[in-house]
Amino acid sequence: MSFPLVGNPSEEGCWTSQHDKKYSDVFRKHRHMETETVDLLIIGSGVAGLRAAIELAPYGNVLVVTKDMPKESSTEYAQGGIAVALSDEDKVGIHFEDTLKAGDGLCNENAVKILVEEGPRRILELISWGAEFDKEGTRLDFTIEGAHSRKRVLHAHGDSTGKELERVLLNKTRSFPSVKKYPFAFTVDLIVIDNECYGAYVLKERKICAILAKATILCTGGAGQIFSRTTNPLVATGDGMAIAFRAGAQLEDMEFIQFHPTSLYSPYAPQFLLSEAMRGEGAILKNVNKEPFMKDYHPNAELAPRDIVSRAIISEMVKTNSSHVYLDMMHLNSEFLRKRFPQIYSTCLQYNVDITSNLIPVSPAAHYIMGGVRTGVNGATSIKRLYAAGESACTGVHGANRLASNSLLEGLVYGARTGSAAYQSSSDIKNPAAVKEHVSEYTAAYHSIPEHDEIRMTLRKLMWDRVGIIRCADSLEKAKSKLSEWSFMLDKMFFTRRELELKNMLTVAMMITEAASLRKGSAGAHYRSDFPQKGKDWQKHIALAREDDRIKYSLE
Ligand code: SIN
Repeated sequence: MSFPLVGNPSEEGCWTSQHDKKYSDVFRKHRHMETETVDLLIIGSGVAGLRAAIELAPYGNVLVVTKDMPKESSTEYAQGGIAVALSDEDKVGIHFEDTLKAGDGLCNENAVKILVEEGPRRILELISWGAEFDKEGTRLDFTIEGAHSRKRVLHAHGDSTGKELERVLLNKTRSFPSVKKYPFAFTVDLIVIDNECYGAYVLKERKICAILAKATILCTGGAGQIFSRTTNPLVATGDGMAIAFRAGAQLEDMEFIQFHPTSLYSPYAPQFLLSEAMRGEGAILKNVNKEPFMKDYHPNAELAPRDIVSRAIISEMVKTNSSHVYLDMMHLNSEFLRKRFPQIYSTCLQYNVDITSNLIPVSPAAHYIMGGVRTGVNGATSIKRLYAAGESACTGVHGANRLASNSLLEGLVYGARTGSAAYQSSSDIKNPAAVKEHVSEYTAAYHSIPEHDEIRMTLRKLMWDRVGIIRCADSLEKAKSKLSEWSFMLDKMFFTRRELELKNMLTVAMMITEAASLRKGSAGAHYRSDFPQKGKDWQKHIALAREDDRIKYSLE
């Protein structure tokens, strides 16, 4: 498959493959495929997927498939917290305004209104299911993060908020006999006929099987692994976005990637997230000359919006010719720090950094994708019976830049809404003969790419270097040209999770690069050094969809 670009303005790009023979090797013929039928299929087991499953459980049998262990999701690793307007000093309207401001003029206001209005109810429900958020005395303890004008971020066990959410939601799903989970089941493709989704093909126990469903919900999370520096877990390879795109769904706002300003920087350490809540509690950023710098970049200093902090860090790194800056917490009470950030404290200690008495080396890392499978506020995509929620979806709730700690709330609110909408629109399969034929024709042959790990590494570095925090026409063209060398794999079938992930990573990387090239201006987290202003038509959203072997884009 090649992907020429077509859209409303007259612009063309072409990704062709020249390496077909070099990398591909047909080695296996598919013979027979097992088929299983469920009422509702959920792909992914983070906060959005589990919350959708809970909503659907009373209405039919629900299958949650996940490519790893059920708890292995970005949710599990979320540290700082979950934003919600529940404190005495806060109001839903102020949370609304802060979210719009962070989104830099590109939020879907209706989606934000739903988020902030339905959020408190979803949090209270979670507490009634056993969630234990940290308290100050008997009252919930709220912290502040960048771009919030009030203390509104709930946290659990100090800095393990996501783990607590995942624990409670997994427990709750276990209380419904109607909810079944398949771990280590990798969704390869959706079953879509005439723009209607009937389930998915799943690789499980070294076999591909067809899972037929009356409605399918994608909750596969983000795509941070596309970048060589990321806070995301290994599972975040953009699978849901890629399979939806292959099936003909629209992807929107793909140029908007949030880079978290502070991940641990050490050649020996993983790029472990150092929560924004640390700056909320008073941590100061210093360059390698030990000079604080954030006040030179924004009046809110350390608590400026994330894109501004990340770019400020890059600028200091360039100025001082260094690979990192420091986070300084040494002026804060050490007992408080150990208690407030137990996970961060012990993880950093493993790499010889004591956050109470050392400067902490940090550098930005890809953290969150605001774009994803385009949906309405009930999770419906452009394909019938296909829904999406959470980081893999784009309702427009985050605009061009997500307000910190809004994503767990999004998973709860939109997971529940999407579950309910999917149930209401689910219906029996209209044309079982067509589905049977689709299943019998799927995957004639599998291929392998012996160099897939090498390509993965090169792709991740390419995306970080050329499509990272600061982009320009030249860097994006170079990225496109390199990505196109691997496009031979886009229409191939593979039989291992790593290769299938690589194909998905390539698809999503291409879409991010394409959208970043199309947006000739800077907004929120998308920064073009050649177009630092917002530019013409900046309030439009870029949607990309596959039509035959072309990418069609539209501005809306
Ligand atoms: C953090 O703790 O800094 C991450 C919170 C978020 O990304 O929402």
